[in-house]
Amino acid sequence: MNSLIESINITKKFGESESAVVAVDNVNMSIYEGELLVIMGESGSGKTTLTSLLGCILRPTSGSLIIDGTEVDYDSEDLSMIRREKVGFVFQLFNLIPYLTALENVIIAMDIAGIKEHEAEERAKELLTQVGLPDRMDHRPSQLSGGEQQRVSFARALANNPLVVFADEPTANLDSRNSASIMQLIEKLCNERRTAFAVVTHDERLRTDADRILEMQDGRIL
Ligand SMILES: Nc1ncnc2c1ncn2[C@@H]1O[C@H](COP(=O)(O)OP(=O)(O)O)[C@@H](O)[C@H]1O
Ligand SMILES: [Mg+2]
Repeated sequence: MNSLIESINITKKFGESESAVVAVDNVNMSIYEGELLVIMGESGSGKTTLTSLLGCILRPTSGSLIIDGTEVDYDSEDLSMIRREKVGFVFQLFNLIPYLTALENVIIAMDIAGIKEHEAEERAKELLTQVGLPDRMDHRPSQLSGGEQQRVSFARALANNPLVVFADEPTANLDSRNSASIMQLIEKLCNERRTAFAVVTHDERLRTDADRILEMQDGRIL
């Protein structure tokens, strides 16, 4: 199977000497094309740090990362390119821009160099339709439910057609009904697209539908 992102002995330490915390401890793992990967583990076990490393938001203390066949050079300028083009992120708190509509929140995430304005708008509309919001495109975040805001976040994460979408506890701030619908959305998107989804969650149902489950403890994968 085609490995999209691979970590080799990746380690992240916070702080110095005595008080240092090894948040991610020598992890070797891969994310494969089209898979639904679920990452579980207790609070503090390193899930957020690991996904941030895999998505190039954090620089590792040691170890290396291969994305799309190329080793990441942390001293070069391509980190922002990777973040923009190769990965997408969905967070607990939706993180939408409050004064922009759903449509504008998706368009603004697009790497629009080389595509026409109306093309970007068409793509954003397609994505919002795919996440089930064909009739909410002109709403601002405050006019949307939590579940709907999180759907916009998924559309935004997919804006540049990334290899992998990381979702870090995407239902932590949703009620059970909205959580269930977001979990269904993730399964649907994973089935409809070649994008891989790496989801940090405690949700039991997603666990049963996952292609693979990783359990973290003390910065390591069990
Ligand atoms: N920026 C930081 N500075 C210092 N320690 C951190 C930082 N981020 C995370 N940690 C520590 O690293 C460990 C793993 O944290 P985290 O990756 O957030 O775990 P999880 O997402 O599984 O709850 C925890 O002990 C946490 O306190
Ligand atoms: Mg976390």
